[in-house]
Amino acid sequence: MRPSSFPAPIDLRAFEAALAEEVTVSTSGSAQRKPARQTSLLARAFIATVARSATVRRRTYRLFYDRLARRSSDVDSWTTMNYGYASLEECEGHTIDLDPLDEEERYCLQLHDRVARDVDLDGRVLVEVSSGRGGGASFLHRSRHPTCTIGVDIAPAAVRFCRSRHRIPGLTFEEGDAENLPLTDESADAVVNIEASFCYGSLGGFFAEVRRVLRPDGWFLFADLRLRHELPEFFSALEYSGLEVVEAEDITENVVRALELDHARRADLIAENSPRLLRGAFGTFAGLMGSRMPVKLAQRSMVYLRIAARKPRGPESERKDGR
Ligand SMILES: C[S@@+](CC[C@H](N)C(=O)[O-])C[C@H]1O[C@@H](n2cnc3c(N)ncnc32)[C@H](O)[C@@H]1O
Repeated sequence: MRPSSFPAPIDLRAFEAALAEEVTVSTSGSAQRKPARQTSLLARAFIATVARSATVRRRTYRLFYDRLARRSSDVDSWTTMNYGYASLEECEGHTIDLDPLDEEERYCLQLHDRVARDVDLDGRVLVEVSSGRGGGASFLHRSRHPTCTIGVDIAPAAVRFCRSRHRIPGLTFEEGDAENLPLTDESADAVVNIEASFCYGSLGGFFAEVRRVLRPDGWFLFADLRLRHELPEFFSALEYSGLEVVEAEDITENVVRALELDHARRADLIAENSPRLLRGAFGTFAGLMGSRMPVKLAQRSMVYLRIAARKPRGPESERKDGR
């Protein structure tokens, strides 16, 4: 697989230093107009709970996403769960042409497209770890023509939803943990992972699993949020895994723009499908404008990263500890 536009391996220290500078982002949206007042008590309690330990975090997110999938198993039109990606140049933020059936979830699908865009997936084996409601895996499978696409998620109800919602030859869904993937060694050409690694018990455990299941030269295509102070630990874990970072990009502005453009759809989804008591907490997790996530992103205390890394060939594909 050859990237069409990846530059030479980047200088990670320079990238971290650039991110560490205080940047004032000018956003036109309500992220700056409204203060971060809407972090509901429930959302705060949840965040405090998952911060307690790796085991608690893993179990709590599994329970949370499983319950969510059970409650909304009949909401067929909702197939993606990420903050999205929008162009900063185009007025509607479009980056790609879409099938009319995909239009409603445009910004979320654009994030999948941006993450995988530069890698040729035609005829390859694609895995999405933490595939959620399966819309992203289905979109990549239909638009990028891998031989097979396997979505893996820890929430059993989400996997059941995907199996009945996305019935496409070559696209399958498996229950499994990102830190113990139900895949054989060197069986995947590309592993996609979008907005899920914050749920995992151990980032190092996840990266080691990605390295194990990727074929030599295979791609790890990643996007997620991180608090700025977590970045050095994140890049150390990635470097330790033996995966080689080819491209790292700060896409925070594109994500904030997508949240602005997609606000009404997200707000409707929450209003229609969640109990009144939980709407504040769900609004926080869904990144509704005025909640704490878009504000933290716009203020740059939180960063949305996109990374393309690959598993090197030969002995250098070993982890830093030689295993
Ligand atoms: C925010 S959603 C993102 C879903 C999907 N990537 C998307 O963009 O639509 C996070 C997903 O991660 C899954 N997840 C959380 N912890 C996991 C783990 N340890 N292993 C596998 N999946 C996990 C959740 O069940 C949930 O479906």
